[in-house]
Amino acid sequence: MNNIGIGLLGLGVVGSAAAEVLLSKVDKLAEQVGIPLILQKVLVRDVNKQRTIKLEPHLLTEHAGEVVANPEVDIVIEVMGGEHPALEYMKQAIANGKHVITANKEVIAKYGYELLSLAQKRNVGLRYEASVGSGIPLISPFQQDLAANDISTIYAILNGTTNYILTQMSQEGLDFTSALKQAQELGYAEANPANDIEGTDAVYKLAILSSLAFHTVVSPKDIYCEGISRLQAKDFRYAREFGYAIKLLAIAKRDRGAIELRVHPVFIPEDSQLAKVNGVYNAIQVEGSLAGRLIFYGQGAGALPTSSAIMADVLIIARNIHYGRSNIPQVELNQKLTAKPISDIEIRYYFRLTVIDRPGTLAKISKVLGDNSVSISSVIQKESDLKSQTAVLVIMTHTAEEKSVQKALEEIKGLTVVKEVSNFIRVEG
Ligand SMILES: NC(=O)c1ccc[n+]([C@@H]2O[C@H](COP(=O)([O-])OP(=O)(O)OC[C@H]3O[C@@H](n4cnc5c(N)ncnc54)[C@H](OP(=O)(O)O)[C@@H]3O)[C@@H](O)[C@H]2O)c1
Repeated sequence: MNNIGIGLLGLGVVGSAAAEVLLSKVDKLAEQVGIPLILQKVLVRDVNKQRTIKLEPHLLTEHAGEVVANPEVDIVIEVMGGEHPALEYMKQAIANGKHVITANKEVIAKYGYELLSLAQKRNVGLRYEASVGSGIPLISPFQQDLAANDISTIYAILNGTTNYILTQMSQEGLDFTSALKQAQELGYAEANPANDIEGTDAVYKLAILSSLAFHTVVSPKDIYCEGISRLQAKDFRYAREFGYAIKLLAIAKRDRGAIELRVHPVFIPEDSQLAKVNGVYNAIQVEGSLAGRLIFYGQGAGALPTSSAIMADVLIIARNIHYGRSNIPQVELNQKLTAKPISDIEIRYYFRLTVIDRPGTLAKISKVLGDNSVSISSVIQKESDLKSQTAVLVIMTHTAEEKSVQKALEEIKGLTVVKEVSNFIRVEG
């Protein structure tokens, strides 16, 4: 073998950056690996499309087989995105004895275990460092550096788009729609932002991280999810009055034989480190039994950070190939942990209610909460409206069981003194 052949599936934002590194750092990469890395073929949808990166025309193809079944290709980098046909192409590449690197969180979250098993059988590597947190090293630390730890919790800001929107709502007082529009104008949010704002993107990433952290197979379906669109600027103001910030957190907590797995907006103490993570940045806080608390922080998206993670995977696999080392993944997902239902979690809550502004209203609400074993830690009355004779009540509870809280909220909605349960948000810490 006198070189290692690389095939790319996709030449968009990430693929172009990876191709640029492969071509512009050819000598440096050869020094690192001990043998040159040669870009052999690149799959695109349209070979005639104008591109910022200039590649020799013979490198481009519209036929996946020219990459995944190409005898000159040893490592396939999948950066086309989406579930299908990316999954099928990766399977074909593995079946053909190619090592696979991917940035595709959706495919790894849904089919990672299946792909890893196929890769193991075929004795090829499957690496996915770029799939979570882009350039922030996370997959390798969980697979290797933290392997001796029992991980108890992950609290993570895994989606830069939503963190940008929440930062703008908090710091500039913008409403959700204006903050989203601003994120779209700046290129931080896609034209169809559903995957980000509904929490799906963070769910995929949490599934990947928690599988590694807890050595168990976690499917996106196991993760409870709420997005950020029902937050209002006033929730951020009230949160601040109580000493909290609001973040969309991906949370995984070990609880004996079960794991709490959830993605939703949450109050966190204003002075916590995660509360200070603003804009498009990501941060992942992990509690390990030996290493203690660790925080990984950085840019969770972007062409260059993502290419950093992809090229790290390329170098690891290429060196393994060159030195004849095994590429079999190190982590066994052999623990049979179950996902704890959201109804069983115990946590504190913030409610924002619109109520009739008259004596006795609070007593009626307190009674419903008390009857359901939910105790109030503080109440503030806000924004009385003389014309409609309504007021906004903001309530913080002590720790309570989710199912009791949901039952109480249903009963509160039925009270004649309550116009609307305007929002409820869980409180961590
Ligand atoms: N962008 C980021 O910051 C970032 C960060 C971390 C992870 N990722 C992940 O990286 C992956 C790629 O993202 P991206 O932003 O680079 O996407 P992108 O800009 O949309 O590029 C996708 C590329 O794949 C090609 N492609 C898509 N479907 C195809 C098909 N069916 N057949 C042939 N070619 C196809 C496209 O070809 P044409 O060029 O001909 O259209 C394009 O070159 C995704 O899984 C994403 O989640 C992205």
